[in-house]
Amino acid sequence: MTVTKEILEQTIQPHGGELINREAEGSFKAHLIEDAKSFPALTLNPWSLSDLELIAIGGFSPLTGFMGEADYKNVVENLRLENGLIWSIPITLPVTEDVAEDFEIGSSVALYGEDEKLYGVLELAEKYTYDKAREAELVYGTTDANHPGVARIYEKGGVYLAGPIHLLNRPAHDEFKDFHLDPSETRKLFYELGWKTVVGFQTRNPVHRAHEYIQKAALESVDGLLLNPLVGETKSDDIPADVRMESYQTILKYYYPEDRTRLVIYPAAMRYAGPRESILHATVRKNYGCTHFIVGRDHAGVGDYYGTYEAQELISRYEAELGIQIFKFEHAFYCITCENMGTAKTCPHDKSSHVHLSGTKVREKLRNGEQLPKEFSRPEVADVLIRGLQKNLSRQE
Ligand code: ADX
Repeated sequence: MTVTKEILEQTIQPHGGELINREAEGSFKAHLIEDAKSFPALTLNPWSLSDLELIAIGGFSPLTGFMGEADYKNVVENLRLENGLIWSIPITLPVTEDVAEDFEIGSSVALYGEDEKLYGVLELAEKYTYDKAREAELVYGTTDANHPGVARIYEKGGVYLAGPIHLLNRPAHDEFKDFHLDPSETRKLFYELGWKTVVGFQTRNPVHRAHEYIQKAALESVDGLLLNPLVGETKSDDIPADVRMESYQTILKYYYPEDRTRLVIYPAAMRYAGPRESILHATVRKNYGCTHFIVGRDHAGVGDYYGTYEAQELISRYEAELGIQIFKFEHAFYCITCENMGTAKTCPHDKSSHVHLSGTKVREKLRNGEQLPKEFSRPEVADVLIRGLQKNLSRQE
């Protein structure tokens, strides 16, 4: 969908100034589908397919395709595109050297999904090799292959294909279709709702009390909250997106004002790149029309790879240039002495008063069908999670 000039003028400027739309339409689309039958074919994994979709719908504006070498190198080394605009994570299309030989620069490549459906076309402008260890070190801050994002770098092919793309068919997201809006559509929604200020919330976990606390603290200062969970590829022990989506609907229904919150999926893959990914997350939410974005403790982190506030420190350096305001929150918890949620900024008591559960502990309890303490999770949410995970377990048996 293309966004009207009026809506664009009334909502925050997209990153780089233009909201990109690379979805082919009308006779151009019909011709391209026909032509694609004779193009050499490439099968995209779910990660690359979600990148294709985000480029096409404008989530990754101003990118119009997979990054060429000049942009790639600048992003890895300097967190900027070649033109100087901030960009923190490479958006690239990896293939093996053998596969790369099938494609000629200047030709078009038909992009299929693992379901054998045609999704798009790449106008191949460049092929280049890259230094995996350097990308890992600079983007993820580690070359340790136990890091899930770094592991992906080592697994993937050694050549990047680059060039502009066209989207021909959309990944279905059938199970989330009521919550699937493009950045042009969320902008329209905010405009119609009269929300001038909107805080975006990234999550890959069910909303627990600390999430709720920081979202609501932010919501005290802005017109609306966009709960924007990532539903693309995550590591296998994260809670599946369908179960999480049900839990989000439940918490919104019971604990949030309907007229000030909206739930929309973010169909991206999770990189677990901590500080660098917090910048990508904020950039994309700006494209979705958010004026504010929350970065809490260890944003997009995994294991002990990043310091608790490293993401906040990095994003603070770029905040003014990014043009989206960052709400930074310290580690939030429930304090049994205060009988309230708080952080070290608002609660004077020591850790023995604080209810804390690690992600691993939470998953373990839920898989065993055990309730979570109500200080940690809303009981309605825990019920959804227990049911969802048990259904998933029985599906796997
Ligand atoms: S993330 O990988 O998507 O960042 P998660 O869904 O856990 O993981 O976090 C979503 C957002 O909430 C992030 O900004 C994160 O920093 C923040 N957050 C998570 N837990 C807490 C907490 N206990 N206190 C403060 N912020 C938190």
